[in-house]
Amino acid sequence: MEKEPIIALDFPTWQETEQFLVPFRGEQLYVKVGMELYLQNGPFIIEQLKQMNHRIFLDLKLHDIPNTVGQAMKGLAALGVDMINVHAAGGVEMMKRACEGLDAGAQGSRPVLLAVTQLTSTSEEAMQQDQLIKVPLGESVRHYAQKAQEAGCDGVVCSVLEAAAIREACGEAFYKVTPGIRLKGGQADDQKRIADPAEARKIGSTMIVVGRPITKAADPVAAYQHVKALWGGQA
Ligand code: C5P
Repeated sequence: MEKEPIIALDFPTWQETEQFLVPFRGEQLYVKVGMELYLQNGPFIIEQLKQMNHRIFLDLKLHDIPNTVGQAMKGLAALGVDMINVHAAGGVEMMKRACEGLDAGAQGSRPVLLAVTQLTSTSEEAMQQDQLIKVPLGESVRHYAQKAQEAGCDGVVCSVLEAAAIREACGEAFYKVTPGIRLKGGQADDQKRIADPAEARKIGSTMIVVGRPITKAADPVAAYQHVKALWGGQA
């Protein structure tokens, strides 16, 4: 289990991101850059965050034909991020090519490669209706996790609710990175499969990803420290 919760920097500009980070000065954070920030600002964002010594999860959830994903990963690996991901729905061949691309492009050790199973904003009903996957959601997530492992990925993104089943299917060392984290009594927003940081620790997430409960809090540093204490078992 990693000590730091990963903060989802879901902001549109570097100015807003920098402003958010100012009160954390001095603290080495693990941050997540997703498509909102990266697609509007590009590699500049990664350079800035690296200069500040933060660890970076680049959450672009690639999903395309194997050759395109492999080549894109080769380029992204050169940015020197710590963790990166694809959609498991892209298939085993696509995930294998993502691994190969990262190996070819990494300047040192290869970033951790995760596969997104079912988004934490997807309910079982929505999965069955929209994707026409007619099995229970947990079974779909477990299946994707096994395929990701077979392809050479280091772990998956899933909800806390599926972490235990994935540990059983794929082992302890296989990463279970869990968004959909909410504090008790807080708003769920668009997330459907949620749990709080203490539950994530007990159930066995490897890392948690937390966005709005920290970024939209009246006092983001206090919210971060609270999440970190719950996650670490000190609260
Ligand atoms: O604000 P919130 O805590 O809901 O943010 C969760 C973050 O995790 C978002 O950046 C979202 O894109 C990401 N994510 C997710 N579910 C996944 C994969 C990534 O919520 N399965």
